[in-house]
Amino acid sequence: MYTTELKDRNQKAAPVTTAAEDPVKLAAFEARVAADDFIEPKDWMPEAYRKTLVRQISQHAHSEIVGMLPEGNWITRAPSLRRKAVLLAKVQDEGGHGLYLYAAAETLGTSRDEMIEALHSGRAKYSTIFNYPTLTWADIGAIGWLVDGAAILNQVPLQRTSYGPYARAMVRICKEESFHQRQGYEIMMALAAGSPEQKRMAQNALDRWWWPSLMMFGPPDENSPNTAQSVRWRIKRETNDELRQKFVDVTVPQAEAIGITVPDPALKWNEARGSYDFGAIDWDEFYAVVRGEGPVAKERVKARVEAWESGAWVREAANAHAAKRAHRAAAE
Ligand SMILES: [Fe+2]
Ligand SMILES: [Fe+2]
Repeated sequence: MYTTELKDRNQKAAPVTTAAEDPVKLAAFEARVAADDFIEPKDWMPEAYRKTLVRQISQHAHSEIVGMLPEGNWITRAPSLRRKAVLLAKVQDEGGHGLYLYAAAETLGTSRDEMIEALHSGRAKYSTIFNYPTLTWADIGAIGWLVDGAAILNQVPLQRTSYGPYARAMVRICKEESFHQRQGYEIMMALAAGSPEQKRMAQNALDRWWWPSLMMFGPPDENSPNTAQSVRWRIKRETNDELRQKFVDVTVPQAEAIGITVPDPALKWNEARGSYDFGAIDWDEFYAVVRGEGPVAKERVKARVEAWESGAWVREAANAHAAKRAHRAAAE
C-alpha cells in the first residue's frame, strides 16, 4: 500500500525555507536535486524538505501497517488453503513495507516511537482507504486490484524520488505490489466468471471501492498546497491528478475485460485526450475521512494501539537481549 500526503483542507502549506537557512547551501541542494542526484541522510537539506519527507514517509509507513487490518480480517475466512496462503504472504509483505519505511523515516532524525505515538494519538494520518470496512471476500479482490494497483502507480515514480533511503525502499516494495495487484485481480476474475451470486459480489465490491480508490491519490492539484514544492524538490514526481488519470485509464479496461462495470455514469473515453473523462469525486467525503470520520477509523486505530500494547513484552525481551549481548561484547 501507499499514501499520498494528506492534510486537512484548512492546513496551510509549510514555508519553503526558514530565514536562518544559508542561501549558498540551499542553492547547492537545489542544484543537486535538479540534476537528479539522491540526497542522503547526512547531507544538508532545508528544514521544510526534511519535515515534508518525515510526514510523507511516516504516513506511508502507517498506511502499510494499518492496511494489514482490513485484509487480516479475512485470513481465517479465505475460501481455500491456496487463497489463505496467498493472502497471508501479501499481508506479511505489507508489514515488511511498514518496517522499511519506518527505517527510512528514522534516517531523518525522527524516532520510531515518536511516529507510532503520532499514529496512536490520531495526529498522524494514513491512507483514507483503510477506514472503509471489508464486508465480503470480494473486497479482498477489490483491494488487491484497486488499492495495490493505485499503490504501484504512485510508487513507481517514487523509486526516483530525491531522498535516497526512500527511493531505495521503493524498489523492493514495487516488486511486491505488483504481486499484490495480480492476486487481487485474479480473485476478481474468478468471482466474475463464477455463479451469478459470485459475480454480484465482485460488482458490489467494485461499486464500494471505486470512489475511495480514486480518493487515494489525494486532493485535486489546485487544493494540494504542497504539490508544487514537492514536485520541485522531486519528492513527488507526478501530481495527484496525473496519477489519478493514469489509474482510471489502466483500470477501466481491466473491469471491462472481466465483465464488471465501473460505477460512474459520466465515465467516457475521450478520443482527443486519449484518456477517460470521469465523474466528480465527493471531496466532502474524502475530507471527512481525513478528519478521522471514516466508517471504521476508530476501530483501526484501536487495533493498532492494542497490537502495540500486547507486543510490549517482545520489545522488552529484545532490548534486554541486545543489552546483554552488548555487555558481553564489552567484557571480551
Ligand atoms: Fe500491497
Ligand atoms: Fe505495501
